[in-house]
Amino acid sequence: MSIAHGIRTLGVLGAGQMGTGIALVSALRAKVPVLLHDRSPEQVKKGLSLMDRLLSKDVAKGRLTNEEAKEARDRVSVVGVEAGIQGLRDVDMVVEAVSENLQLKQAIFSSFAAELKPEAILATNTSSISITKIAASALPASVSAASEEGKKIASRVVGLHFFNPVPVMKLVELISALQTSQDTLDRARAFAVACGKGICFPNPLAVNNPLCDFHATEVTVSKDVPGFVSNALLMPFINEGTATREDIDTTLKLGMNHPMGPLQLADFIGLDTCLAIQQTLYEGTRDSKYRPSLLLQQMVDAQWYGRKNGKGFYEYDK
Ligand code: 3HC
Repeated sequence: MSIAHGIRTLGVLGAGQMGTGIALVSALRAKVPVLLHDRSPEQVKKGLSLMDRLLSKDVAKGRLTNEEAKEARDRVSVVGVEAGIQGLRDVDMVVEAVSENLQLKQAIFSSFAAELKPEAILATNTSSISITKIAASALPASVSAASEEGKKIASRVVGLHFFNPVPVMKLVELISALQTSQDTLDRARAFAVACGKGICFPNPLAVNNPLCDFHATEVTVSKDVPGFVSNALLMPFINEGTATREDIDTTLKLGMNHPMGPLQLADFIGLDTCLAIQQTLYEGTRDSKYRPSLLLQQMVDAQWYGRKNGKGFYEYDK
């Protein structure tokens, strides 16, 4: 049975590598108009120029006609700093893709969730943070979590976790908060599929409650736990320091056929983001396998963030 996602306009918050990728696949594949907002105009400029490069490459490779590329690009418009996030007020779904910081996400959700249309979905692309906590923060101070209004607002919050580079990676993780409604999950899932993605469906309730029967369409079933399935599995690889960087990366690339070694991948994701994810994992589980290594902490202290600023485990042309 196909479920219509009903998304006629999408808002994307954050024009970093994830937000830009999400805006692009939504405009190109799901063919929805996208409003892109970032508090940094510089970041928006970078994001749009990446989009242009990726679309031109697809045209050069014969995958898109000039017209299709232009139509996709024309579907993306920018909501400027003056309008702020309130400029996304009329969309049918917002995907938040700002930095991996709970306070920042909470501030965003609390500042405008109640102003959106009553059926609008609020999705977060968080890599590791509790969707349940983010959903709770979506309520204005005057609305109680137990009230009908409070339950309704929180029921529209969902985790929709894309992978980098978004136009290339096939997976989206869908994560239900304790408060998320079935309708929100179905529509968010349908939207991810419209973006051309396979989907795995971590489900917080089915694990402990066999009577609750929304479940995985693909491989992974998880609760709303720190790091979900993907980053709970990935981060220990990045934290392992038993050999030189080359030997660690070569082992995973040539011994396990990973396209990148874990330290190359860490540079690709961003070391600051990896550290934030590991901190959430460690704080949430107290499992030592997630305790960020001192080296990672120091590299971030040194502002070695990986590919995005040219220096991480390896060096890059900016
Ligand atoms: N944005 C968009 N597209 C990109 C890209 C980027 N940043 N980087 C590479 N690509 C595209 C290229 O344009 C090319 O597309 P084409 O086939 O249309 O020409 C394609 O990817 C392959 O690129 P290359 O030939 O240049 O290089 P590779 O064959 O080495 O592939 C890679 C690059 C796809 C990045 C590959 O190395 C890979 O799959 N690496 C692993 C990526 C991964 O694991 N991502 C998940 C990270 S975890 C995550 O995102 C979760 C978060 O919560 C932390």
